[in-house]
Amino acid sequence: MCGIVGIVGNKEVAPFLLSALKRLEYRGYDSAGIAALNNGKIEYCRSKGKISALKDKVAQYPVAGTVGIAHTRWATHGVPSEANAHPQFSDTVALVHNGIIENYEALKAEFSAKGYNFTSETDTEVIVALITFNLKEGLKPKEAVYQSIQRLEGSFAIEVLFDGYPDMIIGARRGSPLAVGYGDDEMFIGSDALALAEFTTKISYLEDGDLVVLHKDKVEFFDEKGNPVQREIVANHASSFTIEKGEFRHFMIKEIFEQPKAIEDTFCSVYDKETGLINSANIPFDLTKVSRVAIIACGTSLHAAMVAKYWIETYAKVPVDIDSSSEFRYRNPVLDKDTLAVFVSQSGETADTLAALRYCKKHGIKTLGMVNVPASTIAREADCILQTMAGPEVSVAATKAFTTQLVLFAALALALAEKRETLPLPEIKKMAKMLLDIPSIMQDFLKETESIDKIAKDIVKDAVNALYIGRGSSYPIALEGALKLKETSYIHAEGYSAGEMKHGPIALVDQGLPIIVVAPFDKYFEKTFSNMQEIVARGGKVIFVSNKKGIAAAIKHITASIAMPDVNTFVAPILYSLPMQILAYYTALAKGTDMDQPRNLAKSVTVE
Ligand code: G6P
Repeated sequence: MCGIVGIVGNKEVAPFLLSALKRLEYRGYDSAGIAALNNGKIEYCRSKGKISALKDKVAQYPVAGTVGIAHTRWATHGVPSEANAHPQFSDTVALVHNGIIENYEALKAEFSAKGYNFTSETDTEVIVALITFNLKEGLKPKEAVYQSIQRLEGSFAIEVLFDGYPDMIIGARRGSPLAVGYGDDEMFIGSDALALAEFTTKISYLEDGDLVVLHKDKVEFFDEKGNPVQREIVANHASSFTIEKGEFRHFMIKEIFEQPKAIEDTFCSVYDKETGLINSANIPFDLTKVSRVAIIACGTSLHAAMVAKYWIETYAKVPVDIDSSSEFRYRNPVLDKDTLAVFVSQSGETADTLAALRYCKKHGIKTLGMVNVPASTIAREADCILQTMAGPEVSVAATKAFTTQLVLFAALALALAEKRETLPLPEIKKMAKMLLDIPSIMQDFLKETESIDKIAKDIVKDAVNALYIGRGSSYPIALEGALKLKETSYIHAEGYSAGEMKHGPIALVDQGLPIIVVAPFDKYFEKTFSNMQEIVARGGKVIFVSNKKGIAAAIKHITASIAMPDVNTFVAPILYSLPMQILAYYTALAKGTDMDQPRNLAKSVTVE
């Protein structure tokens, strides 16, 4: 995690670094810092807390200079504190780091024995010690960095300033991403295209193992062997979006309300109006030959994958495996050459998902990235991509990223069904039309959210635990509901398939436990209904999420209900995601938690 950015410029860099950090805050926000070279001397300022805290501090203690580096942290080694914030520095260098140095304990012991005085608990400080020692040995900066990174195990993207070198930043990467941006008599370096979007439209991505030397007027790349290399300059398509909440109080609710548009944009990007079918031209594989689909993802994206399994197996009759990215490559998966591996990631940077993608590529498997950020590493490395058109998602709790992933998966299921002739064409067109209709149905649903606000305040807010249950494709929606609630409101919440209730969770039922039952009026309804009655019989407070018919049947048993529009089972998971998100939002609001940047979390998890 952590976001880094650097500028070798011709004007005071502090304000620009702070604004770039704000755009990188999705990567971590427990502490932050900047350093600049003022007449060749390192000046710095660090602060615990969010970028706004650093901004206030810099206003009080200005950092001058036209060359600088900056960092926003998600703590891995050492608590969030000023001493552990980056830049980490010595008397000769200042350094920012994204990644994890796995052999830091051995290196720390080695350099402590040599008399180096460590001042933080970070793994990062060993890189500072290595470079500082190499400089003292008489190596020039570039060579000192190159020799130092040879000793590192783990992942890193670093940027380094050197005392006495007023026009230079050295960067290097292994595992963690890093990009260079080209300006007019100024150069930029940062974690991703988004960080550089406000500065330039011309960027180069560092390859794994690269080292780069930036001056105001030139950039030199070196590969992992230290040989000079060229790296292609590409257009930076990342939008230089302004981080504004507009009329909304929080990004989370803004993004919830952006879903109709995001879904429309996403579906229209794959829908062929002429034929009424899905345009799968972006997928350069013969879909009739796909013997298995393996979907690999983390967090909310994994829940989208779980819904996709129902769709693809039901409508296209292709077996689907789902894996959590962090488990995938360690379980020795059996993959054949006709497997299509799909990597789902809003950010396109999640370390485990990226590692799983590389594992599949190494084993000759066809890879498809489903990402929201087209310039991301997963997008660049996968054989092909499907892009969710959600636009920038700022709130840590994913909302529009999730429902747009669902829409793309629904479209993929239809494309597979068409090619494999598992559904008649008129049926596929009918189902595509259902997807086309979702935005307006969502729009109407979003007009009436007060009742959910009331449920949040009256029933969920004071709960210590909450359960979510559902069957079929509503089961992953229950999981997603529980995830949203726990990450935004810190209420312990679990999702279960309704049939599993009797195998443990029912022991938790008492009068203080809200149970959110996700029950579209579909073939599972009767069974879920029975499970709901078993809960009620034991004093549980049921919040029943169903259509009017379903609620009418349940009304005498339940504590509260959320009325959903009548929709076909196929698209129900997309619509039923909304009350899950809104309930979590209002509960967090009632509790006063920071739902946009919840404690301990980050939007993009770039370490294992
Ligand atoms: C983090 C975020 C989640 C996200 C997950 C996977 O945990 O807080 O919102 O679902 O990472 O991220 P990705 O970018 O790969 O979808």
